[in-house]
Amino acid sequence: MKKAILVLLLLAFLFVGAGCGSAPVQAPSEASQTEAPAEAPAPSQEPESAPPAEPAESGSEAEAEKSVLVVYFSATGTTRGIAERIASLTGADLAEIIPAEPYTAEDLSYNDRTTRATVEQNTPDARPEIANEIPLDGYTTVYLGYPIWWGQAPRIMSSFVESHDFTGVTVIPFCTSGSSGAGRTGETLGEQAGTGTFLPSTRLSAGISDSDLQDWIDSRS
Ligand SMILES: Cc1cc2nc3c(=O)[nH]c(=O)nc-3n(C[C@H](O)[C@H](O)[C@H](O)COP(=O)(O)O)c2cc1C
Repeated sequence: MKKAILVLLLLAFLFVGAGCGSAPVQAPSEASQTEAPAEAPAPSQEPESAPPAEPAESGSEAEAEKSVLVVYFSATGTTRGIAERIASLTGADLAEIIPAEPYTAEDLSYNDRTTRATVEQNTPDARPEIANEIPLDGYTTVYLGYPIWWGQAPRIMSSFVESHDFTGVTVIPFCTSGSSGAGRTGETLGEQAGTGTFLPSTRLSAGISDSDLQDWIDSRS
């Protein structure tokens, strides 16, 4: 009888011992099965969403820079200097109106009334040809620079405004001169263009300081 009780006790001990040992083996394997799918999608989602953000940002920056253009004609470099400084201060693009037939020093001599520039200014419908294309697509503000010739904008400026569509564009004319003011040159160019909003022109001195130039830019916007 004692033997039988001992055998039963031994069997009971063995059964309980085997049952306790199986539990810790299964627990980690269940945990690893539920964690794996949760972690897997995370790395694959990050690289997919990150790259599109950069091109979208740089595209909108490029569009913002492209909305302002400085266009100028300059026969002897004074207006060019101002135009370059405006472009630099505003972050605008820059485009030069290049005559198909360049003006020589003799063409520009205003001591002789028979020279080319003077004859053109005395001929209201003269329209000197422009050599280059200056597309205005995408621009909403255009600074427009030129020298004063006999109190007016050079006729090539009329060639430019009459051959472009300024719809939706604000045009900010400016000029340089020996001493004459801008007069009504901005308004006249606006009438010749027939489209866009042309502000009155401003004569800017070749030696204008950066801070005065910035003040003028601010006053126009
Ligand atoms: C044909 C011609 C006519 C000019 N007429 C005038 C004028 O009426 N009043 C004036 O103050 N300056 C006059 N100027 C001087 C220019 O306006 C001045 O030098 C201007 O800054 C030149 O600009 P640019 O170097 O960009 O061509 C004339 C210059 C030329 C060549």
